[in-house]
Amino acid sequence: MQSVDQLDALREQVQQWRDDKRSIAFVPTMGNLHQGHLSLVRRAQELADKVIVSVFVNPLQFDDKNDLSAYPRTLVADIEKLESVASDLVFTPTADTVYPNGMDEQTVITVPSMDNKLCGQARPGHFDGVATVVAKLFNMVQADFAVFGEKDYQQLLLIRKMVSDLNIPITIIAGETYREKNGLAMSSRNQYLNAKQRDIAAALYQNLLSIKNKLEQGDEDFLALEKYAVKSLHESGFVPDYVDIRRADDLERAEKGDKSLRILVAARLGNARLIDNIACNLA
Ligand code: PAF
Repeated sequence: MQSVDQLDALREQVQQWRDDKRSIAFVPTMGNLHQGHLSLVRRAQELADKVIVSVFVNPLQFDDKNDLSAYPRTLVADIEKLESVASDLVFTPTADTVYPNGMDEQTVITVPSMDNKLCGQARPGHFDGVATVVAKLFNMVQADFAVFGEKDYQQLLLIRKMVSDLNIPITIIAGETYREKNGLAMSSRNQYLNAKQRDIAAALYQNLLSIKNKLEQGDEDFLALEKYAVKSLHESGFVPDYVDIRRADDLERAEKGDKSLRILVAARLGNARLIDNIACNLA
């Protein structure tokens, strides 16, 4: 696997692959890789001849500077993991490469109606930072496909909308959420949990499944279902941020009669803010 930290070297390799008529799939990450990321790399390998993974902890998307400095940087281990799944190239730019003119005057992309709800409310500016860095990385890498995990469902829809609104020539592919045996969605943030909290954290997924089950049985009192789940998470030791039943395509509040739904949760447990979601398609 090639490891590249300069834009010129990246462009040169991409151009060579293009000349050789190779298709390219891209998996953007912030490093601290786990099985969930590796499953996205495998998905990317199914789509294209060559796979590029970026590892860049993007300062622009951290609303909390302590969170940014505490974010685990594990590049050596990340590279080993990417080698183990035969990724073709890892791009590891520094902040100076991504933001050569600094961040204060950086042109910023806002994706309206996707940036200000759910996680956007709790993390002001976060989604502008995500959209901006992803657009920049797309322009740097110039891949045919990019794979984003469904665990960050709001981020996935935000990127899809940005790509559509700005006519960016790339196809966005969703990668399934990779779960621990107890159902806990894999996340870099799980490492902030101790063993007992990891067991408790399984309740997030259990709550999502229980809501889905009730919806499928015809329960349409969305508010009551959400409230019940919030209460049950509180009782398990979480500080819930939201449990919401939304329309799957635009994340607006679901109403009676809506069929394609997404149930989303965000909650704090100890030092970790965890998120998860599942699809619910009513007949
Ligand atoms: O999901 C992530 O890890 C990040 O938000 C992303 C998409 C790599 C942008 O920094």
